[in-house]
Parts: sequence; C-alpha cells; structure tokens
Amino acid sequence: MQQRDFKERLSENAEKVNNVLRGILADRNLIGGELGEVFKYVLEAEGKRIRGALVLWGCEVVSGQVNRNAEIAAAAIEMVHTYSLIHDDLPAMDDDEIRRGKPACHIAFDEATAILAGDGLLTLAFEILSKEIDDAGVAIKLVGQLAGSAGPAGMVAGQLADLQSEKTKGSEEQLEYIHTNKTAKMFQCSVAMGAIAGGAKRGEYESLCEYGLKIGLGFQVADDILDVSGSSKQLGKTAGKDEKAGKITYPSLLGIEGSKERAVKLAEEAVEALGSFGEKAEVLRQLAKALLERTR
Ligand code: IPE
Ligand code: IPE
Ligand code: MG
Ligand code: MG
Ligand code: MG
Repeated sequence: MQQRDFKERLSENAEKVNNVLRGILADRNLIGGELGEVFKYVLEAEGKRIRGALVLWGCEVVSGQVNRNAEIAAAAIEMVHTYSLIHDDLPAMDDDEIRRGKPACHIAFDEATAILAGDGLLTLAFEILSKEIDDAGVAIKLVGQLAGSAGPAGMVAGQLADLQSEKTKGSEEQLEYIHTNKTAKMFQCSVAMGAIAGGAKRGEYESLCEYGLKIGLGFQVADDILDVSGSSKQLGKTAGKDEKAGKITYPSLLGIEGSKERAVKLAEEAVEALGSFGEKAEVLRQLAKALLERTR
C-alpha cells in the first residue's frame, strides 16, 4: 500500500469516527442541558482520531470489515481520550491554555465546566457501550477493556505518576512506566476493542495488544520530541511546556537523537508483533511507520 493511500484511509476513518460522534451528540436523550454545547466544542475540535481509527482497523484486520460495534467503540475511546485531555490541561495538572488549536476547555468555559465536561464524556462513553452494542457479551468485554486501560490500572495511574515526577531526576524505568500507563494503554485498548468487536481469536487479540502497546509508547516518545522541536501553531497546543514544567521526558533522558532511535525501535517491535497476520495487517504496519513522521 502506498503512503498516499494510507493517508487517505486514515482521514476516511477519522471522518467516520467524527460522524459517529456527531450522531451521538445529536441524540438528545444522551446529553442534557448546557453540557451538549461544551461537548460539541471539544469534540468538533481537530483531534487526529488515531485511537478511533485504530479501533476500526483492529476490527477490519480480524474480521475483514468494520462493524457498528467497532464504530461505537471508536466513539467511546475518543470520548475518554478527549476527557483525559480536558483534565490534562487544567491548572491543577499541566496548566495548558491551548488544545487542538483552540482555547482549552477551561479557558473557553470555566474550570468547573471543564471538570464536569470531562466527567460527562467519561461516563457517556460507558453509557453508549452499554446501550448501543448489539451483543451483551461483546458489550461487557468492551466495557472491561476500556475501564481497565483508562482507569487506575492505566491512564489515570500514568497521569498521577507523571505529575508526581515533575521536577525530579527520574529514571528511564520510571519514564517507561509513566508513558506506558498514561498513553500506550489507551492505544492498546483501541486495537483491543477493535479485535473484540471483530470477534478475534485469543492469539489475534494478544498480537494486536502487543502491537498497540508498542505504537502507543512510540506515540508518546514522539509527543515528547514534538514538544521540544515543534511550534505551538503546528501542534495546536503549547510547545516547550515539558521542560518548563520539569517533566521527565524521552528527550530529557536520551536526547533528541536517542529518542528518535527509541521511537524507530518501538515501531519495528510493533510491526514484528503483527507477524502472524500477513497482508491483511498492512494498514497497521503503515500506521506504525507514519507515526514516526508525524508533525502534529
Ligand atoms: C495527545 O494525543 C495526548 C497524548 C497522549 C500525547 P493526540 O496527539 O492523539 O491528540 P489529538 O486527539 O489528536 O488532539
Ligand atoms: C498526556 O500527555 C497524556 C494524557 C493521558 C492526556 P501530555 O501531557 O504530554 O499530552 P499533551 O502534550 O498535553 O497533549
Ligand atoms: Mg500531561
Ligand atoms: Mg499535557
Ligand atoms: Mg506532551
């Protein structure tokens, strides 16, 4: 598959995820009152939708097609991801004022609204999984997968460790723990939910989990590099924040070149994990490569 085809497929998937999110927002039974406006603000902003796209591809790789359950799971993970960004930007956390090229939620509205919008998105994600997945067994597996990856054994643990490590010397081991939990587990969760929606066999599910964890860790390594080398305009968020906040990052421990090498190695390991899938996982190999070159 050519790189150009890949870019088109990624934007097609992103658009599909956006449409599912719009459909959910339009369903008034799910969202009451003013929060609907806040949800629209944060979800209509330009997220790359890589996690949502991964859910769709995970399903396609194991079953040959995308199904409605995968679409719902893709919307759910993007809601949880968006909540994590709203809270990540709050003054008590990273204190960032720009997100997805616009004023962060707590700047556009206020802090209490941003906290509640995050809480609302997190809860709504589980509501849609429980109400809109067409098979109770699949729904319960998706709920467990998302809760395990986003909660206190995943993203939340990573975010806490990230904040606690500010202005400490930090080790590579600690940094890998932080990045694996705050970011890689949500990537792993994305392909895993796609696999579940597509009815993956145990071995397929495990290979995709391994792939997801590797590209997820690589994604956060690249995020750390971009924080140093990108501009705020290009990133749609404030560049250069990590050093000011005293975060432990890959560039702070390994330098830019060392970090780039680490990202390449992680992409290679991710591709290796796809060995048993052959041709049908080509799109996931392309994604691992494309993420090395991303500029936002
Ligand atoms: C930002 O994720 C937070 C990290 C885990 C690095 P993305 O770079 O995927 O953010 P959006 O969704 O495209 O805004
Ligand atoms: C955030 O990591 C990871 C999340 C779980 C939200 P960062 O704090 O580095 O993400 P950005 O750079 O603000 O997007
Ligand atoms: Mg953070
Ligand atoms: Mg941040
Ligand atoms: Mg960052």
